[in-house]
Amino acid sequence: MRTLKVDLGDRSYPIHIGPGLLPEVGRLCREAGFPLQSPLLIVTDSEVGPLYLDRVASSLADEGFRTVVHTIPSGEASKSLENFEAIMTTAITGGLDRSSAVLALGGGVVGDLAGFVAASYMRGIAFVQLPTTVLAHDSSVGGKVAINHPLAKNMIGAFHQPKMVVYDLDALKTLPKRQILSGLAEVVKQGLMIDPEFVTWLEEHAEGLVALRPDLIGEALEHSCAIKVGVVTQDEREFGIRAILNLGHTLGHAIEAVGGYGTFLHGEAISIGMAGSALLAVKLGRDRAIYTDTIRVLKAFGLPTVLPDRYSEDELIEAMMHDKKFKQGKVTFILPESIGSVSIVEGIEESAVREVIGQLKKGDSPW
Ligand SMILES: NC(=O)c1ccc[n+]([C@@H]2O[C@H](COP(=O)([O-])OP(=O)(O)OC[C@H]3O[C@@H](n4cnc5c(N)ncnc54)[C@H](O)[C@@H]3O)[C@@H](O)[C@H]2O)c1
Ligand SMILES: [Zn+2]
Repeated sequence: MRTLKVDLGDRSYPIHIGPGLLPEVGRLCREAGFPLQSPLLIVTDSEVGPLYLDRVASSLADEGFRTVVHTIPSGEASKSLENFEAIMTTAITGGLDRSSAVLALGGGVVGDLAGFVAASYMRGIAFVQLPTTVLAHDSSVGGKVAINHPLAKNMIGAFHQPKMVVYDLDALKTLPKRQILSGLAEVVKQGLMIDPEFVTWLEEHAEGLVALRPDLIGEALEHSCAIKVGVVTQDEREFGIRAILNLGHTLGHAIEAVGGYGTFLHGEAISIGMAGSALLAVKLGRDRAIYTDTIRVLKAFGLPTVLPDRYSEDELIEAMMHDKKFKQGKVTFILPESIGSVSIVEGIEESAVREVIGQLKKGDSPW
């Protein structure tokens, strides 16, 4: 087990990462000081629960904790107000008090939803992230928690840091391939955003990473977490640099909302979004190599880079407006300057974004 520290003053917390950690959750919760008399709420989903709930629940029981469990259907559509309310009901009927904690056992969907429950229940109680997907190396760190509104992704949420992240890499072994690739999109994003050497390393080891070779995937996820931690600790509430984590997300979130949540997985949508950011960068005068290099890296991981024809420009622009990305007809984008370096560019005209959406549908030769 390796431990990274997220340094945020009185909101600091450890990220434990390594194999075999879910059976240690009980002990780690004891060491973290959670009181035995307050019940813990485990939130999980219909895929993860049958695979990993027993390990977590029995390790907590062994330490003397009482637990209540709430299981949501798996998938992005579950990050909804309905499920938020249903989990609140479980929390109230289960007798959770101010000293209780919520444990999010699953991917980013469970983490974002359960985290938002924890941020809101009795005005905020503790929570622990138990990520089980590649993607959740990103979503479980940094304290952004949210649910979706049908009109806009992550529209209702909070900043609420977990007390601890316990990332058991053994859990990744049961992930479907498509989910592995989607998660790797977020790993690639961390590199494209800030770390050119990491991108080179990722591209060289793409095959082994997709196959979840333990040494490679462990190193990639630890490094990727560390990149996120570095950004979040500089700017917890996104007044400045934290915005770079949104590379590919302005368009990616719009693709998710317009396509219907779950049509494209989050990582797939931001992969197309990153291709779009690269095109936009070229349109605004940056070197064409930015686009070709970005596409090459994404393709090494079997990620999509083309927007299907059925996505209407109007609907995508509309979704971006709801996403608060537009101000007076102009939008802010995170744009690549080169591989491993980005800048925050404000005041981009809607017409330029529309053109890029058109080009993104043309596939590999947008010009
Ligand atoms: N809060 C943040 O900072 C942040 C950052 C990035 C992404 N996100 C959010 O994360 C979400 C995506 O997360 P995700 O990709 O983990 O999706 P997810 O939680 O839907 O998990 C993906 C799928 O894999 C299944 N699954 C999970 N773990 C498994 C395992 N170990 N074995 C087998 N199946 C497993 C799930 O049931 C689900 O069907 C999006 O909603 C996105 O907005 C949040
Ligand atoms: Zn993301």
